[in-house]
Amino acid sequence: MRTTVGIIGAGPAGLLLARLLHRAGIESVVLESRDRDHVERRQRAGVLEQGTVDVLRAAGAGARLDREGLRHDGIELRFDRRRHRVDLAGLTGGRSVTVYAQTEICKDLIALQLAGGGPLLFEAEAVGVEGADTTSPRVRFRHQGREKVLECDYIAGCDGFWGVSRPSLPAGTGHVFERSYPYAWLGVLADVPPSHGELVYARHRRGFALLSMRTPAVSRLYLQVPEGTDARQWSDEEIWRELELRFETDDDWTLRRGPVTQKSVTPMRSFVHEPMRYGRLFLAGDAAHIVPPAGAKGLNLAVGDVVVLARALAHRRQTGSDALLDAYSATCLRRVWQAERFSHDMTTLLHRAPDATPFEGRLQLARLDRLTSSRAAGTDLAEAYTGFPLE
Ligand code: APR
Ligand code: PHB
Repeated sequence: MRTTVGIIGAGPAGLLLARLLHRAGIESVVLESRDRDHVERRQRAGVLEQGTVDVLRAAGAGARLDREGLRHDGIELRFDRRRHRVDLAGLTGGRSVTVYAQTEICKDLIALQLAGGGPLLFEAEAVGVEGADTTSPRVRFRHQGREKVLECDYIAGCDGFWGVSRPSLPAGTGHVFERSYPYAWLGVLADVPPSHGELVYARHRRGFALLSMRTPAVSRLYLQVPEGTDARQWSDEEIWRELELRFETDDDWTLRRGPVTQKSVTPMRSFVHEPMRYGRLFLAGDAAHIVPPAGAKGLNLAVGDVVVLARALAHRRQTGSDALLDAYSATCLRRVWQAERFSHDMTTLLHRAPDATPFEGRLQLARLDRLTSSRAAGTDLAEAYTGFPLE
């Protein structure tokens, strides 16, 4: 098998890259290790920056997003039993975010790809990348019980944090910057209308809680839990009770309960691999970097990476120049580090570390007070939350 761009992974990064390349007249083949059903069911993030929405629309993947996506002009920060709205749109000259589940984006992009794009092979697991430092890189993969080879001009490693692309880089060709956190998120999906019209980020001495949503009828809720927690340790009743405690306010706000349809634990880490390129292998999305979820940046970063990569490949095709491909890693990393900084700040602002001192608790409250009372501090948060520009 031969193609121009071999794409490993059919998460949002790989699927959107295939779509953008198709529109630029560049051939690609997508290899995905899991089956279609698995990719379309996985619960992931759900907050899209304005720029991400614009990209999906321009890629022709905005129809259902425009119908079903929920535009949010603000978020709530909740602490000390009080509610504070951050007016995202008012502080940024009209920028907002859209709530639309990542899994729905994947469904939309898969449907488009199968209807008119290049090959997208499910249950095709890449097992190795070879010749990344030559002009004819190859992906070895297993499909339908046989080992096969995909010969390419370029390879895009869009295979997430646990994929094969990054580990296939020769030792000593990159640097990793990372930190872990001593807590995780227990996430639940519940068939109940969200108890508030906007996302609620709650700081509580028992730990962080987040109220989000998927649709007007489905709530998505998260609780900070100790690292290594098994979701089965928590009964539905215990989850609702703990959410109620952490969201409790002095006014008459109440949390609506409903049937829990899914429960899972998300570990938390910050991770960046530099550079995001080795020869003709380009890393994009979670394959290159991970952010803790409090800033809602993971998906948006993945989208930014593949926009930069698709543009660079199109530039190369049109002009023969490698300039944009050579700039790929540095261009992406500038934005990646802003998202790393913001996600780390949001995480430490809202979570309770097991060894936190009372002094650190007071500092959190002082930071929250500042964010909700100073226009300058609020604007900084709102600009970061609604998205950093691609360049
Ligand atoms: N061969 C083929 N496919 C693979 C392989 C492999 N060896 N290893 C992993 N994959 C696939 C996974 O099954 C998955 O479908 O690569 C895909 C990677 O997708 P994501 O993990 O969704 O990563 P990405 O597309 O970069 O999207 C980033 O996803 O994890 C969330 O929070 C993150 O929202 C962010 C977004
Ligand atoms: C989600 O809805 O899954 C979600 C929302 C906001 C976040 C993280 C996750 O910061």
